[in-house]
Amino acid sequence: LVVVIDFGAQYAQLIARRVREARVFSEIMPHTATVEQIMARRPKAIILSGGPQSVYAPGAPQVDSALFSSGVPAFGICYGFQAMASALGGDVARTGLSEFGRTKARVDVPGTLLQGLPDELAVWMSHGDSVESAPPGFTALAGSAGAPIAAFEDTDRGFAGVQWHPEVLHTQAGQKVLEQFLFDIAGCKPDWTPASILDDAIAAVRAQVGDKRVICGLSGGVDSAVAAALVQRAVGDQLTCVFVDHGLLRAGEAEQVERDFVAATGVDLVVADAADQFLDALAGVTDPETKRKIIGREFIRTFEAAARGVVERAGEADGGDVEFLVQGTLYPDVVESGGGEGAANIKSHHNVGGLPDDLQFALVEPLRTLFKDEVRAVGLELGLPPAIVWRHPFPGPGLAIRIIGEVTRDRLEILRAADAVARAELTAAGLDRDVWQFPVVLLADVRSVGVQGDGRTYGHPVVLRPVTSEDAMTADWSRLPYEVLESISTRITNEVREVNRVVVDITSKPPGTIEWE
Ligand code: XMP
Repeated sequence: LVVVIDFGAQYAQLIARRVREARVFSEIMPHTATVEQIMARRPKAIILSGGPQSVYAPGAPQVDSALFSSGVPAFGICYGFQAMASALGGDVARTGLSEFGRTKARVDVPGTLLQGLPDELAVWMSHGDSVESAPPGFTALAGSAGAPIAAFEDTDRGFAGVQWHPEVLHTQAGQKVLEQFLFDIAGCKPDWTPASILDDAIAAVRAQVGDKRVICGLSGGVDSAVAAALVQRAVGDQLTCVFVDHGLLRAGEAEQVERDFVAATGVDLVVADAADQFLDALAGVTDPETKRKIIGREFIRTFEAAARGVVERAGEADGGDVEFLVQGTLYPDVVESGGGEGAANIKSHHNVGGLPDDLQFALVEPLRTLFKDEVRAVGLELGLPPAIVWRHPFPGPGLAIRIIGEVTRDRLEILRAADAVARAELTAAGLDRDVWQFPVVLLADVRSVGVQGDGRTYGHPVVLRPVTSEDAMTADWSRLPYEVLESISTRITNEVREVNRVVVDITSKPPGTIEWE
C-alpha cells in the first residue's frame, strides 16, 4: 500500500490512480491524519500531494516531521515537495515568483529519480514559493526558471520530490518519474493486478459474510453487476439478486440482466416485473422532478417487497437470515463523502434506490477501494460479457427522463426503437469507448411536417445527445463523424415510423445537462 496524503488540491485522486496504474495499490488519507494513523496502515511509501500555493500561507497544512523519521520512503509533489524540504531543513523561499502551467525543467543530475530522462523536460507547474536549498543529505537534481531546485532525492533514506506535477498528462515522463520513485527508491513491487484485486476482494467478502445470506439489487449497470458477480464468486448460493424491471430500460437491457448476466455468473435471480405499476404511477405526469420522485418511490416499494420475499423464503427454507446487502459503492464516492479514514466531507452521496429503512442489512461493498476503470478490469476478470462491462452510464429513472412529455407504453416503444438504432450504429462505427454516453431523447409533444415517399408526415423529432466526459460533472458534445450521424438519421427515419426528423444536441455541460430532464 502507498498512502497518498491529500493536502487539499484536486490532484490526490489522480496521484492515487497513477500509482495504481503502476500496479501498486494506493489509498488517499487527509492531511489531518496523524502519523500514528498513517503508520497503522503499514504503507510501503507515502506520497505528499500538491496543495495550497505557499507553505507560509496562514492555515497552510503542516507535515508532522515525525513522518520522516518513521523509516517509510516518501515522495513530495509540488506543495508536498516544499513541505518535505521545509520539514527536513531545506530553504523554501517566499519568492513571489510563480510558475503556472507548462514549464521547462532542466535536469542537472539524473540521480535515481530522473534516470534515463532527457536533459530538458516539459512539465506542468503550479507554485508560488520555491525551494532554494535542498535539505542536508539530499542531492538537487533539477531546476527551472522559477524554481532553483525543482527535484531532489536522498536515496539512502528513500526520500525524493519534484516541484512539478508528475501525475498530470501534460507532464512529460510523469509516470516514469513516479515509477522510478516507487520501484527504484521505495522498493515497491508491481503486483497489484486485476487477478490479485479479485482474490483479495473475494477473501474479504468471505470473511465478512461467513455463512450468512446476502441480497443484491441489480440495475443493469456496471457497478452492481460487478459487485454481484464478485460476491457470487465469493459465497455462491448464499447470494440472491433482485432485479426491478421498471419497464423504462432500453431495448435488450432486461434480457442482458436476466439472461446474459445469469448465464455468466449463475446467480440466483429474482425479477420483479413492475412495468405496469411504474407506468400507472407515471400516467399524466410531465414534470421532470415529479417523474423522478415517483420512480424513486416506486423503486423502493418494489425492491422492498422483493427483498422481503427473499428474506421470507430464506426463513421458510432453513431459518437462515438475510443479513447483508451488496452495494456497488466506488472509491471516488468514498473519498468524496468523507467515508475513507476521515477524509474531508466534500459532498454526501446517496445511492440510487436508497435503502428500505426497516429492512436492516449490513452493507457489503466489495468495490469500495476501486476506481471505475478498475471495476471494469475486475468485471472482465470475472468473465462478465463485454457488453455489460463496457456499458455506458444510464440513469436510474431510465427512458422516462428521455421522453419529454408524458411517459406511455407507445412512446417508450418509439424511443426504444430509435435508441437501438443509434447504439447499433455507434457500435458498428467502433466509437463506443470514445463516447461517454449517448442519450436519445423523444420530443413526444412536438410534431413537425415531413415528406416520406409521396406522402406528408406529421411525426415526432428525436434528439441525439452524444457526449464526451470524464466524470459526468462536465461534458462536451461529441464530434461524431458525419457519416455516422447520417446513417443513424437515415435508419431511424426509415425504421421508426413515428419519427420523421433527427436533430443533434450541440450543447456542452454546463450550460446543458447530459439528460434533458
Ligand atoms: P446530468 O443530466 O445531470 O447527468 O448531466 C449526469 C449523469 O448522471 C446520470 N443521471 C442519473 N443517474 N439516477 C442515476 O443513477 C438519476 O436519477 C440520474 N439522473 C442523471 C446521467 O445519465 C449522467 O450520466
